Amino acid sequence: MKNIDWSNIGFGYIKTDLRYVSNYKNGEWDEGCLTEDANITMSECACVLQYAQTCFEGLKAYTTADGKIVCFRPDLNAARMADSCRRMKMPVFPEERFVEAVVKTVEANSEWVPPYGSGASLYLRPYMFGYDSIIGVKPANEFQFRIFATPVGPYFKGGVRPLTLRISDFDRAAPRGTGHIKAGLNYAMSLYAIVDAHEQGYDENVYLDSATRTHIEETGGANIIFVTKDGKLVTPKSDTILPSITRRSLLQVAKDYLGMEVEEREVSLSELDDFSECGLCGTAAVISPVGKIVDHGREICFDIGESGMGNTVKKLYDTLTGIQMGTVTPPEGWVKVIK
Ligand SMILES: Cc1ncc(COP(=O)(O)O)c(C=O)c1O
Repeated sequence: MKNIDWSNIGFGYIKTDLRYVSNYKNGEWDEGCLTEDANITMSECACVLQYAQTCFEGLKAYTTADGKIVCFRPDLNAARMADSCRRMKMPVFPEERFVEAVVKTVEANSEWVPPYGSGASLYLRPYMFGYDSIIGVKPANEFQFRIFATPVGPYFKGGVRPLTLRISDFDRAAPRGTGHIKAGLNYAMSLYAIVDAHEQGYDENVYLDSATRTHIEETGGANIIFVTKDGKLVTPKSDTILPSITRRSLLQVAKDYLGMEVEEREVSLSELDDFSECGLCGTAAVISPVGKIVDHGREICFDIGESGMGNTVKKLYDTLTGIQMGTVTPPEGWVKVIK
């Protein structure tokens, strides 16, 4: 294992040894390989540079309590990337090959998987882009699929602590747009809002549905969960949010492990006061407790207990991370053992 102060790394890029690459040309993917070359050279007119034809995924590899290296539900990342590719007019990288490529990338960088208990993990970033020269607005003909790995610590500065969010005046996704896929363009247009939120002292933006601006959607990099005063888990349902793998897993954990009632439904801005707890969930965010949402001067505060997390959010966090780290028995097929 590399000699790194694992407990103190943040969420940044650290170059690791090998990354996976496969090229698509003349209608087919090549056999793919691992490479030491972390740089990409392409035409000045590459489609991705001009028209942002690119999408990506994010998942993590962990060291479990008994020393195995595992990934959490990589098949769902493969399926979501396939959806992103279809919407972006990019060729799908076959789902089973996606999972194989994840395994190869983790195996090749196993020295970089942080130890159990450090709070860090190996983040994997699969992505694809169109790289031949395109000047008229149309899809590329040649594409590259890559996966790199980088060890990461907590996504939010300061680790697990209650976050303060604001209701954003900017929108993230249009009805019938691309909010439900993981396209780089969704993140490019959020950069202005995130910098502005940080400058104003907020950790993140909560986006509303852009058609009516009356319903809660998600934040720039995570889905939202709420807990009602009578202990139900509620999460927004919308065609314009990213179908978070963490959120979908949590719904099942809440039902099957914690015996909670769960509701996936529209959540209106006006009902925020009715919830007792709130959290952000995602691969990067894991489950981050939300202490406060500020809606233009109106402050909605949530229970953050004594530990910085409300009781129910804490139970969800402990169960999900227990499944990921091998201390809680996972549902069938959730944990892919790599080595
Ligand atoms: C906009 C957005 N929503 C939600 C999520 C969470 O999705 P997942 O749980 O699949 O990581 C992410 C990525 O992590 C995201 O970028």
